[in-house]
Amino acid sequence: MEMATIPGTDIEVSRIALGTWAIGGWMWGGTEEKASIETIHIALDKGVNLVDTAPVYGFGRSEEIVGRALKQYGRRDAIHISTKAGLEWQNGNVRRNALPSRITGEVEDSLRRLQTDVIDIYFIHWPDPKVPFEETARVMERLKDQGKIRACGVSNFSPEQMDVFRQAADLQLCQPPYNIFERGIEEDILPYGKENRIALMTYGALCRGLLSGKMTPKREFSGDDLRKQDPKFQPPRFEHYLSAAARIEQLARERYQKTLLAAAVRWVLDMGVEIAIWGGRRPEQMHPIEDIVGWQIDEDFKKAVDEILWETIPDPVGPEFMAPPA
Ligand SMILES: NC(=O)c1ccc[n+]([C@@H]2O[C@H](COP(=O)([O-])OP(=O)(O)OC[C@H]3O[C@@H](n4cnc5c(N)ncnc54)[C@H](OP(=O)(O)O)[C@@H]3O)[C@@H](O)[C@H]2O)c1
Repeated sequence: MEMATIPGTDIEVSRIALGTWAIGGWMWGGTEEKASIETIHIALDKGVNLVDTAPVYGFGRSEEIVGRALKQYGRRDAIHISTKAGLEWQNGNVRRNALPSRITGEVEDSLRRLQTDVIDIYFIHWPDPKVPFEETARVMERLKDQGKIRACGVSNFSPEQMDVFRQAADLQLCQPPYNIFERGIEEDILPYGKENRIALMTYGALCRGLLSGKMTPKREFSGDDLRKQDPKFQPPRFEHYLSAAARIEQLARERYQKTLLAAAVRWVLDMGVEIAIWGGRRPEQMHPIEDIVGWQIDEDFKKAVDEILWETIPDPVGPEFMAPPA
């Protein structure tokens, strides 16, 4: 497994992190605990040592399942947990709340659900425009001083918002969306991370399954699955994205004898981010982990991917539909 050190800390994490939003069930059409726990165990067996979760994923469920899985697995010292704060919910409706009082309450809830006494990486989930970023930053700094968290991060923040946050606290990580189809960070956040020694732990490596190599036009989404609302999964865009995915898959097989999934996660890592989060909820979904490590994508492949996108996706759209109301 390839490893990365979180700047300013001695935390060494695998460059592939397991994402557990779907394990919480909410917005993914439900969850199955036994399969979820096995999924986490298989990822750990294969060298992943970083598990990403959040209170809002299943309104506590994902954190509880992660807590149980890690308790059963043991070796807590060798595994790193990242979770988040700053979203609240009522009757299934989610909104941002990064007030210091909210964060200090949330950290205790997360520690309890995760059955641990320290959170390795703690993120503010979304910028809350109603609370000065410095106030939230100061609480994060205090949690670090108290030993409740080890590293501090923000998710979905712009560079300008990070600048303000950093006036009051050190920032070690940023968690933005990034994958072959969602490239917004290349203009600003990627260079900002490099210039300021902020590790990027990007989410959505498979673009919610579009880059898994298993997505088909016939796939049906059940219950509250977010892909029912996701603009990339609606006609005619769904066909455009699937046809781009098929061409990238062919290219990956010809050039590297690799699957689309392996090339998609590898692409994220080779574009210069420190850690790629890949979400899964079934044990067999973790089998390809080995295919991703030990090789690299070259500049020609990156250019060929860009040409495919240009030729097949006339009306690209980003991940903005996922943003919770401020
Ligand atoms: N900070 C934030 O605001 C934020 C936002 C989004 C996500 N995240 C984090 O990032 C993680 C990853 O993002 P994501 O879950 O949106 O997406 P992702 O990694 O792009 O896609 C995950 C989905 O791809 C499918 N998949 C995974 N492995 C597969 C395999 N081997 N074969 C076939 N299909 C496979 C699964 O869907 P099916 O099981 O339905 O087939 C899975 O739920 C989340 O779990 C969460 O931890 C953070």
